Amino acid sequence: MTSLPLGNDNDLDDTQFYNRVDEISFLSDNLELTKKGSTPTILLTGIRGVGKSALMKKLKKNLQNEYLVVYMDLSAIDKYKKNSLTRFDFMKLFYESIIKSCSESNIITIDTKILKYFKNRNFKLDKIETINKIPLLPLTEEDYTKFTTFVMDLPQQIYGNYKKQINGVLIFMDEFQILKQLDEDVNGFLWYIRSVIQSQNHIGYIFSGSMSVKDELIADIAGQKGAFGGRILNFEITTFSFDTTKNYLKEKADYLKFTDDGLKRFYKCTKGIPYYINSFARLLPPNEKLNEDKIISEFRKSLPYLLLHLTNEWYKLNNQEKRIITSLIEKPLKRIEIANKLEVTSGAIGASLKTLQNKSLIELDNKKYEIYDSIFKEWLKKEYEEKGDYPY
Ligand SMILES: Nc1ncnc2c1ncn2[C@@H]1O[C@H](COP(=O)(O)OP(=O)(O)O)[C@@H](O)[C@H]1O
Ligand SMILES: [Mg+2]
Repeated sequence: MTSLPLGNDNDLDDTQFYNRVDEISFLSDNLELTKKGSTPTILLTGIRGVGKSALMKKLKKNLQNEYLVVYMDLSAIDKYKKNSLTRFDFMKLFYESIIKSCSESNIITIDTKILKYFKNRNFKLDKIETINKIPLLPLTEEDYTKFTTFVMDLPQQIYGNYKKQINGVLIFMDEFQILKQLDEDVNGFLWYIRSVIQSQNHIGYIFSGSMSVKDELIADIAGQKGAFGGRILNFEITTFSFDTTKNYLKEKADYLKFTDDGLKRFYKCTKGIPYYINSFARLLPPNEKLNEDKIISEFRKSLPYLLLHLTNEWYKLNNQEKRIITSLIEKPLKRIEIANKLEVTSGAIGASLKTLQNKSLIELDNKKYEIYDSIFKEWLKKEYEEKGDYPY
């Protein structure tokens, strides 16, 4: 009955994808500079659930008849990662993403051999082959440097071989904040990427991730002294406004019978974040009067389901990490204040703070740490009120 997408489905079809008209036209205009030979580089930011991935997948669909569009999701890197994340893991994923886009593309025809080779990673160095003019190197760890250069250069090679058929190659790197887990100085890696991009033409990039504007990775990328400082277009996706949310629900879920106050409360609960709008709206009863009180009680009931992605993370945290989070429920705190609350030294919580930041559970704003997701914070509060303790 419902046509609202699931909160974790970001591959939306045209009937599901709502609005974002200005964003699409702005981003497309910039990406299309690729056609003229430049290398537009865009940093797409915005809070988790706001619709960055959905937007990039939409852009991919719009542009993939004229460009080779590579969508790379860095969260998939986990499958390579053993203890720590290395440059080589990144390169393998990048390579796999490029090959996947080639094989899905109607324009680029790559022999199925290339896919077979990818699956079977154990070939020897002397077996360098070319498939459809795209050089194929063996994927062994020993030849790491060569492989890195090869992968980073591959988009340019593809463009060179297919320039009659495509206007350029567009590369979307999603969940870019995962790079923070790299086993080396992220900055060094960013400068490396930048040096490669600088020598390219007809290639466009979007780096995107659920980083808040305050994130230090953003400064490393786009700040004055950042690797891409002055050369990257920083674009933030914002939440749905009240009116957008209202029109969206009217159009896609007219069986939800909000009163004026009920709708206002719905907006307050979901904060205009499409992830929460869809997830919560899907849980509401159809054809029933939804006034303010009803929304409040439904929201309390729905919280555990809305927060599944975060509560899963929560239960995996160690005790200190959990205690840091609960110390921040009342108000944002400085590092030393957190340490005092936990009765440990400031040095003793450094690693936990980093982990929590990397998981986007907390963020640092103006020297104070705060809980990233306010709805998650409400869930913890409610657990405490109902059960007398936090869910440890
Ligand atoms: N333009 C849109 N129209 C309708 N629903 C959307 C839109 N953008 C996002 N959503 C909803 O929000 C959810 C989260 O979007 P997603 O792109 O995964 O966010 P992000 O990548 O910013 O964390 C999607 O699964 C979908 O349910
Ligand atoms: Mg995303």
